[in-house]
Amino acid sequence: MSRGTRAVIDLRALQHNFQQVRARAPASRILAVVKADGYGHGAVAVARALSDADAFGVATFGEALVLQQAGIQKPILLMEGVTSAEELQLAAQHRFQIVVHQFWQLALLQRVAVANPLVVWLKVDTGMHRLGIPLNACMQVWEQLRACAGVQEVRLMSHLACADDVAHPLNQSQCSSFSQLMTATGASTGSLANSAGLLRGSAFQHQWVRPGLMLYGATPLAEASAEALNLQPVMQLESRIIATSMVPAGETVGYSATWRAQKDTPIGVVAIGYGDGYPRHVSSEAFVLIKGQRCPLVGRVSMDMVTVDISAVPDATLETPVLLWGRDLPVEEVARWAGTINYELLCQVTDRVERVYRAD
Ligand SMILES: Cc1ncc(COP(=O)(O)O)c(C=O)c1O
Repeated sequence: MSRGTRAVIDLRALQHNFQQVRARAPASRILAVVKADGYGHGAVAVARALSDADAFGVATFGEALVLQQAGIQKPILLMEGVTSAEELQLAAQHRFQIVVHQFWQLALLQRVAVANPLVVWLKVDTGMHRLGIPLNACMQVWEQLRACAGVQEVRLMSHLACADDVAHPLNQSQCSSFSQLMTATGASTGSLANSAGLLRGSAFQHQWVRPGLMLYGATPLAEASAEALNLQPVMQLESRIIATSMVPAGETVGYSATWRAQKDTPIGVVAIGYGDGYPRHVSSEAFVLIKGQRCPLVGRVSMDMVTVDISAVPDATLETPVLLWGRDLPVEEVARWAGTINYELLCQVTDRVERVYRAD
């Protein structure tokens, strides 16, 4: 008997979600964000399945290399730029596109000779105050980048801080600042929107959109479910029951004996824990689905196992499949129980969990 703990990745759902992006931003090109191993889905498999994407976005040089070595031919953007002169030279050799968000990265480009001129995205700080050149210095940096021998083309980008919150005033102010800068520089290519941003309509979409989360079928908006946005969950996290027992009334279950049976209770032990990426801190509302029935978690989540009350499924037995999240149990719900966000849960599924790809 195998442990049966796996993340089933539905590549059809991924492609469906990509089409939703196309439909929502028909005039924009799509840079599919596949950093953090494709938000835990497997960056290479995701990039291969998204053959219609116009480019891919990653955070690190290593992530870009993995894609290229797997034969991905589309442009790959290093969204945090390079970290050293050596990395700049390698990025040019590999024909990666780079972000420039700090003055020292501009200085590198001015001083280091590169094998091939690069496409550079000047990242502007329009209000998030994380990465980006301050607005008042952008015109100058724009001109300086254009004067670099190692720069083939300069594009503009920025990142939204609060796009998940439709009513947040920062959205409009960032959007206006970015549009003004596009006009002032005369830039022909710009990008502002992540998933939540692109859902806000054409004013945010510019020439390129950069969706991540919505490609994976999770909702980027606080107020709308994935289903309401016509997105299909790509990851289904599954495991199995590996032990069952009847815990007598009055006895406790698990570490620190935090849960006590009020009556004789059938307990199933499920082969998944925080060592697989299932969050350790979930509220008392947490449940899993077994044969479509809600079975509450009881006791602490341990490294390799969770314990569930299987009263609702009298025929649950060894090897019975268990759904942790997926189509019938949105990852957003688990995130809520865990006091976190869907992004984190998807990214933190560990390597121990086999990824199984479905394309049918
Ligand atoms: C610069 C940049 N663009 C786009 C994205 C994609 O964001 P999302 O997953 O919310 O669509 C990210 C992800 O954090 C990012 O850092």
